[in-house]
Amino acid sequence: MVGSTSLPKTMRASVLLRQKSLTVEERAVPVAGVGEVLVKVAAVGVCGSDVHYYREGHIGDFIVDSPLVLGHELSGIIVAVGSDVDAVRVGERVAIEPQRPCRTCRECRAGRYNLCPDMKFYATPPIDGAFCGYVTIQAEFAHPIPDCVSFEAAALLEPLSVAIASIRKAQIAPGSSILIAGAGPIGIITAQTARAFGASEIIVSDLISAKRDRALQYGATRVIDPVASDPATLNLDVNAFIDASGSARAVDSGIRSVRPAGIVVLVGLGNPEMVLPVSHIQNLEITVTGIFRYVDTWPTAIHLVASGQVDLDSLVTGRFDLDHVQEALESDQSEDSLKSIVYPN
Ligand SMILES: NC(=O)c1ccc[n+]([C@@H]2O[C@H](COP(=O)([O-])OP(=O)(O)OC[C@H]3O[C@@H](n4cnc5c(N)ncnc54)[C@H](O)[C@@H]3O)[C@@H](O)[C@H]2O)c1
Ligand SMILES: [Zn+2]
Ligand SMILES: [Zn+2]
Repeated sequence: MVGSTSLPKTMRASVLLRQKSLTVEERAVPVAGVGEVLVKVAAVGVCGSDVHYYREGHIGDFIVDSPLVLGHELSGIIVAVGSDVDAVRVGERVAIEPQRPCRTCRECRAGRYNLCPDMKFYATPPIDGAFCGYVTIQAEFAHPIPDCVSFEAAALLEPLSVAIASIRKAQIAPGSSILIAGAGPIGIITAQTARAFGASEIIVSDLISAKRDRALQYGATRVIDPVASDPATLNLDVNAFIDASGSARAVDSGIRSVRPAGIVVLVGLGNPEMVLPVSHIQNLEITVTGIFRYVDTWPTAIHLVASGQVDLDSLVTGRFDLDHVQEALESDQSEDSLKSIVYPN
């Protein structure tokens, strides 16, 4: 491994021992293997999935049954490179794509590496994430960022990648109309991405009035309170619907809100099985699909932020150090909170 600075032997890591039990441990700094880089972590976004692992100890079949480092939305600086990686990269500011596909299976070879059955994804049991001083990643998944992109925005290129993957699936193009259910971080970033891809009508629904108000500042051209008026009754006739709520009710009304041959993209998790309006889907030839993370989205994400088309910096509502990861994970209790960032170093 080649590095420019004298690296410490150990680092601090926030470790989830079990449900609602975190501790800070001293651990060995990892070593960049062949084709990898070692990154000193700068900023890490707190994601809803981190909060689920902390509160419930599992997400579906992924169970925290051994100590786990959370955090998968991150940026940092390359401080060392493994063999096969050009040492000129030491010192680069990078955004990390937090996944290690096998690169050789059928899905990887077809370019759908997000569907690799041997995927190792940060902060998904048993793979450790980034609430720690240093991480390693395959060199091509450490994406260089320009100076105008802050470390916080660079960390949030991960949820922006989810939005880009969804907008691509929804085939949003100039003049498209879209309904987005949910104005959490994913819904807000998806609204901005829809605007960047040229959508002219961006309708966002959320149960909470403060969240609807915020959506209007981030690209929504109209907001809907789904309790006051079911979107399905409003004749929205949109090209596409993206569910970023995980609510079965929102999915049902969203499917009924698209025009014939419209596209429905299910992003929200939490309801593994739902009843779908099948005759409606058949009669209108609606395409219903899901997305699982992302493929090749970072270059687009970096462009959208560097060009000012998507604003991630202003989404940050809380900042925490490694000794306050618990507070960071609980910050979503406040209605004003949107994105918390942890600074491990
Ligand atoms: N598929 C993927 O790869 C992927 C990746 C990241 C996140 N996700 C999922 O996307 C979803 C959104 O993420 P987030 O971090 O923004 O979550 P979040 O919980 O912060 O936001 C969800 C929002 O939906 C709203 N909501 C609930 N019921 C609703 C309804 N009936 N109609 C309209 N809005 C409703 C809530 O008020 C909330 O504001 C989550 O379910 C998350 O797990 C999926
Ligand atoms: Zn996430
Ligand atoms: Zn693979």
